[in-house]
Amino acid sequence: MPTHDLVVIGTGPGGYVCAIRAAQLGLNVAVVEKNATYGGTCLNIGCIPSKALLHASELFDEAGHGFKAFGIEVPAPVLNLAQMMKHKQETVDANVQGVAFLFKKNKITAYRGKGKVLGAGKVEVTADDGSKQTVDTKSIVIATGSDVAQLPGVTIDEKIVVSSTGALELAGVPKKLVVIGAGVIGLELGSVWRRLGAEVTVVEFLDRILPGMDGEVAKQAQRLFSRQGMAFKLATKVTGVTTSATGAVVSVEPVAGGEKETIAADIVLVSTGRRPYTDGLGLEEAGVATERGRVVIDDHFATNIPGIYAIGDVVRGPMLAHKGEDEGIAIAEILAGQHGHVNYDTIPAVVYTYPEIASVGKTEEELKAAGIAYKVGKFPFTANGRARANRTTEGFVKFLADATTDRVLGAHILGAGAGEMIHEAVVLMEFGGSSEDLGRTCHAHPTMSEAVREAALAVEGRAIHI
Ligand code: FAD
Ligand code: NAI
Repeated sequence: MPTHDLVVIGTGPGGYVCAIRAAQLGLNVAVVEKNATYGGTCLNIGCIPSKALLHASELFDEAGHGFKAFGIEVPAPVLNLAQMMKHKQETVDANVQGVAFLFKKNKITAYRGKGKVLGAGKVEVTADDGSKQTVDTKSIVIATGSDVAQLPGVTIDEKIVVSSTGALELAGVPKKLVVIGAGVIGLELGSVWRRLGAEVTVVEFLDRILPGMDGEVAKQAQRLFSRQGMAFKLATKVTGVTTSATGAVVSVEPVAGGEKETIAADIVLVSTGRRPYTDGLGLEEAGVATERGRVVIDDHFATNIPGIYAIGDVVRGPMLAHKGEDEGIAIAEILAGQHGHVNYDTIPAVVYTYPEIASVGKTEEELKAAGIAYKVGKFPFTANGRARANRTTEGFVKFLADATTDRVLGAHILGAGAGEMIHEAVVLMEFGGSSEDLGRTCHAHPTMSEAVREAALAVEGRAIHI
């Protein structure tokens, strides 16, 4: 008899949610975690600390530049970075302790150490002191997440050349910050340090920011970020970074060829993507198939080895916490004999800049490429009463609906609170709703969400306030 029904390796959002759901369903569950705290990338060095700093730095920016227009005269705010970092750490601590509490509450056994898959039903755990034990289990879920992808020729020292991890704990505000990669991390953490006083230059290989997001939204967002003081060098590649005791010099050149340039920086943030993390997991020896580093799974999260499953950043799909959580719930339900399922067409994505950028479903570019006939409904926040009252009129809502059936295929929001508002579109799409369904749904006045309804109405040219 194996000791456990399920051993989950890794306690990020995928792993810890999977463990809790499986325990709720009556399975005897254990987790293996190599780090000192639970919660993985997201809670310790990702989603949660970055949002703590994004919120705090936005307030700092507001106090400095936004209050006056509301008739609030305050002296120029003074940054206490140590206190801001304390707020970030307290947020992280509360969240990781919350996971520890939930493990206890759900009677989940926790093994502290590095897990290695010895084969179906066997996981070896190596503790920090080197001692090893083998744990027997019916099923194994691999949820080992991801790590920073290295950029060839650039050495991350987490002091001058930092990844997101280092950028979340700089000891002072850099005078000049160069961000390599205009993706989610680059724009979020670039925003944090720009608001706190850094001169930020973002170098991006492609000719646009936020690849994968709707092109029109990304273009408008870039305009707004530029107005906030971020400089962009698009279609530009980094050919090298040299460091000294005091800073770095970043060498760049246009992707299409042309004049080379150097940019001086106090800090360089490398944010060019993440890679699945399977180091020391023993996958090759156990015969678990991987493809470009990602564990290969079928539609039910099963690897090629019976009894071994995988979820989260370590498998295909977007590297997002909520995607991993939903996969964790689905595999737990499958292992308990139920019919767990994830609808990959309705996973939202949010960039937590100001304004926020939120998206679900298809972009215009994707619909065009797939040859699907669609209609567009758009509504700007400048025409929304609440946005005017709040002085948050930047951005717009955009709905993409099937030209024949009116079924909503995608929704994109650039605007304050977009990350909350997108969920109306997510629920609508989950239920196969049409733009008319949303257009006929009463929305409280005055709210920013009225713009979402108006954009849905705009699909048939029926928006009222434009
Ligand atoms: P992870 O969270 O990476 O957790 C994996 C865990 O497995 C870790 O605790 C690790 O220590 C452990 N582990 C690995 N190997 C072993 C082993 N052999 N034995 C034992 N333990 C092991 N996503 C969002 O949706 N929203 C956001 O706002 C957001 N912000 C982010 C900000 C930053 C700066 C970063 C870097 C990422 C952000 N993400 C965000 C992405 C998000 O963090 C990941 O998608 C998410 O954490 C993936 O969850 P996971 O469970 O697959 O893996
Ligand atoms: P990313 O994939 O979002 O963006 C990387 C960017 O770097 C892209 O624009 C890419 O074109 C560019 N790039 C790649 N190589 C380059 C090079 N050599 N020179 C210049 N530019 C280059 O990756 P990022 O920002 O590192 O984030 C990793 C992942 O973490 C995200 O994809 C996302 O899944 C997750 N994340 C999610 C957040 C959220 O949901 N709010 C926040 C932060 C991270």
